[in-house]
Amino acid sequence: LFAGPVDFIKGVVAMEGLPDPDRPEICFAGRSNVGKSSLINALTGRKGIARASNTPGRTQELNFFALGDRAYLVDLPGYGFAKAPVAVVAKWQALQKRYLAGRPNLRRVFALIDARHGIKPVDHETMTLLDRSAVPFQVVVTKADKIGPGALDRTLAQIEAELQKHPAAFPELIVTSAEKGHGIETLRAVIDALTRD
Ligand code: GTP
Ligand code: MG
Repeated sequence: LFAGPVDFIKGVVAMEGLPDPDRPEICFAGRSNVGKSSLINALTGRKGIARASNTPGRTQELNFFALGDRAYLVDLPGYGFAKAPVAVVAKWQALQKRYLAGRPNLRRVFALIDARHGIKPVDHETMTLLDRSAVPFQVVVTKADKIGPGALDRTLAQIEAELQKHPAAFPELIVTSAEKGHGIETLRAVIDALTRD
């Protein structure tokens, strides 16, 4: 799946702009700066296909990437912080909520959690929305290269405990580093399996 072509399709700013839900779709959600765009770049092996940056709030649209004609990957704007006017942020958040709750071809949401921070209240809000909409999600821990093994174990324990509260959550976590390549092959295999019909 990832050996084939990857194309940026479009950036969507309103529900009317969503591409037809004609193929399986996977999306990447999480707080600003958690590493969503970097993870998509690492997965596709196309540095810069998703714009990553140290400025939280970099991704401001729902960005659709096609893996051949088999699946879409969607890079969402971050929640929790953005260097943008309040009204603009409120608009993205509303669009994101409608998208997450109502996209018929959405096979799984990857809920990205920074290895250093664990699950925060704002993550719970998104996870609760997914529970209510019965959209399955799985936590992907990002930036594992930034902490040592002991601290990572503590974060994983915190996440596992918090996930008990969320019926839509998959129990298995995927630990990644977009920087070092850790977990990328595992995540590719999960996406490959999810997008087979
Ligand atoms: P928004 O679009 O603002 O919501 O951010 P995002 O979640 O897309 O994060 P992005 O991929 O832009 O990454 C934010 C910063 O974290 C960038 O400076 C990345 O280089 C850095 N980063 C992302 N993943 C990793 C990682 O695995 N390891 C390390 N060390 N840094 C990372
Ligand atoms: Mg981004």
